[in-house]
Amino acid sequence: MIVAIDGPAASGKGTLGRRIAAHYGLPHLDSGLLYRAVALALIARGGDVHDASAATAVAQALDPQMLGDPALRGPAAGAGASVVSAVPEVRAALLDFQRRFAAEPPGAVIDGRDIGTVICPHAEAKIFVTAAPEERARRRALEFAGRGEPADEASILADILARDARDMGRAVAPLAQAADAVLLDTTTLNADQAFAAALAIVEARIGAP
Ligand code: DC
Repeated sequence: MIVAIDGPAASGKGTLGRRIAAHYGLPHLDSGLLYRAVALALIARGGDVHDASAATAVAQALDPQMLGDPALRGPAAGAGASVVSAVPEVRAALLDFQRRFAAEPPGAVIDGRDIGTVICPHAEAKIFVTAAPEERARRRALEFAGRGEPADEASILADILARDARDMGRAVAPLAQAADAVLLDTTTLNADQAFAAALAIVEARIGAP
């Protein structure tokens, strides 16, 4: 079984993905980490995230071992990821890894921007998670503060809006709800309510009681 979870930055899709994967005993891939890893590796070697050919070279040589690096969760990696992910060759370089992850039995839960539309168009269950930008900024600020990192909500909101525009506006595999994805708006839901709602969507799709 493949569960595809897409949605904008800080919509909570990563947390939902982890919990759904744990519930079904499936491996989980946060595909945003791949793009974050490309951006961070590029920055670490003194490169510019706007340099498309350098980003492509890094993506083609990406070591999946890097995906556990906690620095990937920071704002620099997120902003850089949004830039490098607009490069078609970067997306192409990361496609195989994601498709192979999904193809491995017994299946997978993958979250990102284009999982239901491009990476796994035949996923059994597709959820498009969203929440109001102000609520997403509030949650991200809490997350940063919880890690002892600077968390200015206004600048986080500005970053989220800029990322939404870039992710939805790019030419290749833009953030979009697949025609057969179920929309889940978590603006007024807490984490447990969002998980229950997501689980209900999956169960309805796979025909469980
Ligand atoms: O979900 P995230 O915040 O970790 O994603 C970081 C960036 O990576 C996001 O702004 C766009 C890009 N991304 C993408 O283009 N496709 C995906 N499947 C996942 C992430």
